[in-house]
Amino acid sequence: MADQKAILKAGGKEIELPILSGTEGQDVIDVRSLGQHGYFTYDPGFMATGSCESAITYIDGSAGVLLHRGFPIEELARDADYLEVCHMLLHGDAPSKEEYEEFKDTITRHTMVHEQINMFFHGFRNDAHPMAMLCGTVGAMSSFYHSDLDVSNEEQRIRSAHRLIAKMPTLVAMCYKYNIGQPFVYPRNDLSYAANFLNMMFSVPAEEFQISPAVERAMDRIFTLHADHEQNASTSTVRLAGSSGANPYACIAAGVASLWGPAHGGANEACLNMLEEIGTVDRIPEFIARAKDKSDPFRLMGFGHRVYKNHDPRATVMRESCHEVLSELNVKDPLLEVAMELEKIALNDPYFAEKKLFPNVDFYSGIVLKAIGIPTNMFTCIFALSRTVGWISHWHEMMSDPKQKIGRPRQLYTGHNQRKYTPIK
Ligand code: CMC
Repeated sequence: MADQKAILKAGGKEIELPILSGTEGQDVIDVRSLGQHGYFTYDPGFMATGSCESAITYIDGSAGVLLHRGFPIEELARDADYLEVCHMLLHGDAPSKEEYEEFKDTITRHTMVHEQINMFFHGFRNDAHPMAMLCGTVGAMSSFYHSDLDVSNEEQRIRSAHRLIAKMPTLVAMCYKYNIGQPFVYPRNDLSYAANFLNMMFSVPAEEFQISPAVERAMDRIFTLHADHEQNASTSTVRLAGSSGANPYACIAAGVASLWGPAHGGANEACLNMLEEIGTVDRIPEFIARAKDKSDPFRLMGFGHRVYKNHDPRATVMRESCHEVLSELNVKDPLLEVAMELEKIALNDPYFAEKKLFPNVDFYSGIVLKAIGIPTNMFTCIFALSRTVGWISHWHEMMSDPKQKIGRPRQLYTGHNQRKYTPIK
């Protein structure tokens, strides 16, 4: 932490504000004392606001850097598996071989959900959006663990984190099976995290199911690349919900809800819907023109990012996986042709170059998910599954901080001044 100070001149006063430095990244002006001087800061959309202190993930948007516990995402995507990344996010560091085995064993032993959760599903229409079912069933899990909901107890917090990481694939696969009318498939503890998920999604009791190693690898990579992303909308939602002392299942349900929007986790689903709407390569110019037209609200889904203004390092890795999976599976899908051509055209268009808009991770992950047979409406659920570890690690970090306070932003009020009420009667 630096000794520098910023001086704010306001209302004829000079207010000294400390400047704080982290281990990486921009310094921040500590405005916590401003309230005593009669001011609040105003920053809708949090364009210049650090909402907390965190040691989990670092992003440098202009350099295209993403580090989890200091480790670059490219190295993790290449050399680590998702559970290793989960361990570092939640427990603070890369696991030793023994720690990894123990962690894997713990997660594996929590994969089953309470049998009564099956019944919740039967309360949904069978064409319910899987995110609606996921939101509801994740929150409902809090009703099964009454004795483990003391959020001030570290051991209980960690147990909830393990349960959530372990059970999310089971719940997500149940959402899919319920939609298509197939029986739920129980988890298999002899499979890897990714293979178990694929098995719960695609196997049926009537026959053997073979998982291609390329698909298993791509699935694990999608999980890894979406595991955490610092203080994005859904993570901030989880933190805000948790700041009141709410239980972890309720907080993660809030994260699922926030992720659902098309500007966030809903982007990969929106992207595939857009590709379907484009339909054929010859219609791409029409959609590019619409994206540039200020009077048209249309945006190219899967392009652009609030933080990355040069390239998204996750997209670079996902692009590689995308091409690998498409060639290994030898999929012939006109939509994928549209996607590849759109990527080429947008990358070479000056409008996109000037505004620093490039395909983000969800552009490629959507294509991979489609290629491995996952229906579009399941995409955001898979993002939620992957991000659960990030959400719960941030929640745990926040709850471990003795200075933790309820989050309570203020506002710039623009409504009526006080006036007299005339009773209607
Ligand atoms: N297509 C066309 N124009 C765009 C797009 C796009 N996808 N994204 C931004 N722009 C333009 C926008 O019109 C604006 O132009 P101008 O300066 O002339 O007004 C400029 O670029 C800056 O846009 P912005 O909305 O101020 O930028 P932002 O940082 O607030 O928005 C974003 C970031 C991700 C919400 C936005 O780029 C977007 O809506 N992208 C499509 C949705 C998407 O793919 N989201 C997934 C993000 S990655 C997954 C995740 O982390 O959740």
